[in-house]
Amino acid sequence: MQNYETLLIERKHEGYAVITLNRPDKLNALNIKLLGELHSALAELTRDEPMRGIIITGSGAKAFAAGADIAELNQLDGYTGQEYSQRGQKVFNIIERMACPVIAAVNGFALGGGCELAMACHIRLASEKAKFGQPEVNLGIIPGFGGTQRMARLVGPARAIEYNLTGDMIDAVTAEKIGLVNHIYPADELMPKAEEMMLKILSKGPQAVQSTLEATRRATDLTIDEGLALEAKLFGECCDTGDFKEGTGAFLEKRPAKFMGH
Ligand code: COA
Repeated sequence: MQNYETLLIERKHEGYAVITLNRPDKLNALNIKLLGELHSALAELTRDEPMRGIIITGSGAKAFAAGADIAELNQLDGYTGQEYSQRGQKVFNIIERMACPVIAAVNGFALGGGCELAMACHIRLASEKAKFGQPEVNLGIIPGFGGTQRMARLVGPARAIEYNLTGDMIDAVTAEKIGLVNHIYPADELMPKAEEMMLKILSKGPQAVQSTLEATRRATDLTIDEGLALEAKLFGECCDTGDFKEGTGAFLEKRPAKFMGH
């Protein structure tokens, strides 16, 4: 892995990576440097020895990411603002469309771009101290890294409109209640729980994981007929794998399955 200034990357021998956003003195605010490095790191992690899962978290005890870097935002105009928004959207689209599961371990503030980053991940686990929100309206702008679209898809348009218009922070308990996060844990249990969930997913057949992720992730974007057609196609592809024969065979022989990844 190359060295990153704003990220810490750990490749775990079990086949997944932990990306830690690392600007703790600025509450891990997402500046252009960090977004660029995140883009490069994701490319690196899916290239040579592709990772089978990624956990994203923030460094320090306080924040996952407290938003886009407001000092940089302050310099934008109409033209550069649109470009800036598209740049962030591109990186977060890559995360959302990753072939491997991406878990956000939200250890503190996830505001603005931080909330949008968490929402681009496939699963969100949060510490009891986490706080979510889209406070852009307080700055005279709107969420620009997917917050208007993904918030509405995750928690429904009525709640999304309220949170995006008021800029109110959403505490962890509320976030869990409205479906913005999957589970909340005491702060010191967050990473162990995220790693436990990742290992559980990695113990399944790799193609089944990838296909399940793709079909389920796309459910909100496709019509029911398109979604069912995709499901049937991916189901058929899985039936062609040795892991399918192994998984079903192991069940019938009453033994644990040993998946080989093909
Ligand atoms: N961009 C740039 N710098 C940020 C930042 C952001 N989004 N969020 C926090 N920081 C910086 C602060 O400027 C401060 O830097 P300094 O020590 O050099 O002055 C440092 O991080 C610590 O933040 P601070 O505000 O002192 O912490 P706090 O505990 O008092 O408050 C927050 C925490 C999250 C409530 C507050 O930092 C905040 O409101 N941040 C902005 C959130 C936001 O609007 N995000 C959306 C951006 S689109």
